[in-house]
Amino acid sequence: MAVIKVEKMGIKECEAELKSNPRIWLITGVAGFIGSNLLERLLILGQTVVGLDNFSTGNQGNLTIVQRLVSDAQWACFKFIEGDLRDIETCKRAIRGVDVVLHQAAIGSVPRSLADPIATHESNVNGFLNMLVMARDAGVGRFVYATSSSIYGDHPGLPKVEHHIGKPLSPYAVTKYVNELYADVFARNYNLQVVGLRYFNVFGPRQDPEGAYAAVIPLWFKALLRGEPVYINGDGETSRDFCYVDNAVQANLLAAWTRRSEALNQVYNVAVGKSTTLTGLYNLIRGEIARRMAVLAGEPTYREFRPGDVRHSRADIAKAQLLLGYEPTAGIEQGLHIAAEYYMALFGHKN
Ligand SMILES: NC(=O)c1ccc[n+]([C@@H]2O[C@H](COP(=O)([O-])OP(=O)(O)OC[C@H]3O[C@@H](n4cnc5c(N)ncnc54)[C@H](O)[C@@H]3O)[C@@H](O)[C@H]2O)c1
Repeated sequence: MAVIKVEKMGIKECEAELKSNPRIWLITGVAGFIGSNLLERLLILGQTVVGLDNFSTGNQGNLTIVQRLVSDAQWACFKFIEGDLRDIETCKRAIRGVDVVLHQAAIGSVPRSLADPIATHESNVNGFLNMLVMARDAGVGRFVYATSSSIYGDHPGLPKVEHHIGKPLSPYAVTKYVNELYADVFARNYNLQVVGLRYFNVFGPRQDPEGAYAAVIPLWFKALLRGEPVYINGDGETSRDFCYVDNAVQANLLAAWTRRSEALNQVYNVAVGKSTTLTGLYNLIRGEIARRMAVLAGEPTYREFRPGDVRHSRADIAKAQLLLGYEPTAGIEQGLHIAAEYYMALFGHKN
């Protein structure tokens, strides 16, 4: 029987090594939710970071918050480029001298892609291909990119396992699937080291509560804190594997750091491995707020199912655990607890 020697690896070992051997990173979508959380962690770890964003859904405010959370010396290691992925010269400029790319920039949201598939395609597919080509030409060491649980589409299996996917149910899901196909082709033909991270519903501080396409957690925090109505799409039994953002940050660092060849040119589920229904989520959020103040809002209103949404989603995270050493550190309750502090501060409530 073959014995596989597994070297000790995990986020502690990864962070210790990054501290002693800092690298130069490019985060695309750095002014967005996940991008700005990556920026915060990398600067605290003493890394040098170039960030690219066109402020289409991200904002300067997220960068200003990170600046406040790190030291002046750490902030001095960050260079921001306001620019667009769809412009190949901008990608070329951003990637110069970079060791690792964490590609987060994309137009998120299933309904937004149904409303404007061309805009979604241009940033998510054309912009992605620009970054891949520039990464290849610049000889970048590792290209880690955000893909999505939406690519499981109509596959009914639960939990979701990486190699069993169905037909995409939205233009957004198509773009993420195309990303995975391109990344694989670049790995095979140009020896580019790629890792795709299929995020399940990520949440946490700096996720945007504003706009027509806000994700459910920031949207409900805002509504409950303002005493506005909460709408639940469908019967409330739709379920998701809600993943606190620190877990997604961890997966990015591990994917960028791993030296195991079998871990490369792969896609991984990034989640917790547990699902929560929408009604359950509503109760958790309401409970977080009720712990701190009187909740002004009434009961939620159930309405039509939303087109393009999958019914249930829960990840099998064994592959990321085995090959990357990924171990989620925060479950939904701990994550919502931290998110509650952020949204209470944002909407002007004191604890
Ligand atoms: N948040 C989630 O639950 C989740 C789930 C699955 C996948 N993802 C993926 O993770 C990544 C990050 O998502 P997020 O939640 O932080 O979203 P976000 O909207 O907060 O961040 C995306 C960032 O990309 C920037 N951007 C978009 N198009 C650009 C372009 N053409 N040029 C330059 N910058 C551009 C936006 O301005 C924004 O700052 C995205 O690729 C998204 O599809 C997120």
